[in-house]
Amino acid sequence: MRSNAEIIGRDRIDDVDAILSVMSPAGEEMHPVPSGGSTLFTWDYGQDLEPLVRLYEKAKSSQWNATTDLDWTIDVDQEKVAESNMAINPQNQYFQQVAAEDRSFPLHGWTRDQFKQVAIESQSYVLSQFMHGEQGALLCTAKIVEQVPWIDAKYYGATQVMDEARHVEVFARYLNEKLDGEYPINGHLLLLLDDILRDERWDMTYLGMQIMVEGLALAAFSAIQMLTTEPLLKKLLRYVMSDEARHVAFGVLSLKEAYAEMSAVELRERQEFAFEAGLRMRDRLFNQDLWIKLGVDPKALLTWLNENTSNRQAQGLLFSKIVPNLKKLGLLDAADGWLRHKYEEMGVIQFEDLADTGAEYELLDEVAKDRAAT
Ligand SMILES: [Fe+2]
Ligand SMILES: [Fe+2]
Repeated sequence: MRSNAEIIGRDRIDDVDAILSVMSPAGEEMHPVPSGGSTLFTWDYGQDLEPLVRLYEKAKSSQWNATTDLDWTIDVDQEKVAESNMAINPQNQYFQQVAAEDRSFPLHGWTRDQFKQVAIESQSYVLSQFMHGEQGALLCTAKIVEQVPWIDAKYYGATQVMDEARHVEVFARYLNEKLDGEYPINGHLLLLLDDILRDERWDMTYLGMQIMVEGLALAAFSAIQMLTTEPLLKKLLRYVMSDEARHVAFGVLSLKEAYAEMSAVELRERQEFAFEAGLRMRDRLFNQDLWIKLGVDPKALLTWLNENTSNRQAQGLLFSKIVPNLKKLGLLDAADGWLRHKYEEMGVIQFEDLADTGAEYELLDEVAKDRAAT
């Protein structure tokens, strides 16, 4: 049995120094990653995997064009957006409240204007991480097209490559035309994307990207698009989210086939990977570079947050799509529930019985809804 130190490089999952030692690669121009695994031809062109055939048809008919389907003439007033973000963002509200009441809180005494600055920078920071994550998805999905053995999955994967190119395009354009530009990639997110791309086993690419990263993205996009009052970002996220729902379904449908055949030892390796990926994403959500930019000591803030479970619970919401999917794939309860115990420790197990996303993409197709309405 491998220890936490062997899997994630630290014994305690909340080790503040270890978390903060993972830095963003600021100043890097390119980032080469040796890609693991073999590219596979298949000579079986029969389309046998019915759920994937249906998904492929849906993907072809719900393509959209970022240049013409979004109104880029909309003027975005960053200060106004920050004001409305402050009113709806639970973390900003919570921080303002503790800053007023609790002397031990590292942001004690901060003014409303300072919290507005947090909202402005957070918007850029979070959308930047979405953009970098989308590029990760573009590269991972290209790898899946090369390595997955089934023609149905190669066909569908090719549509996802196009989707991801469009997603990188829209976030990059929004950040550079409507906001003040981008932040570098968060170190934890990069570590996770590196791991996914390096792995030689094609199903690990799916598990890391389609189930974990895109599961979190789907939850985050749907939360932000429901709350934001900025019309361009709202529509952009509604459309990106429609695509993401298919991507997560692609992961669930493909891995169900693959995991049904796997031994207990192989499943345990997948559980360890899901634990590691989950933790990297949770560590990324602390946004350490953002706090450094705002002049806050990240160690003091993270230490304080670790002692306050309510904040952890708010972040846990982002796992609401991941945990039911892992359960459906059998990973939560394989090997005597090893992963279940790890996710209990991380505080995110409460979502296990929500709907999994194997079929939800039909309901979330906002592109088709808009077309039907015109
Ligand atoms: Fe995407
Ligand atoms: Fe995606």
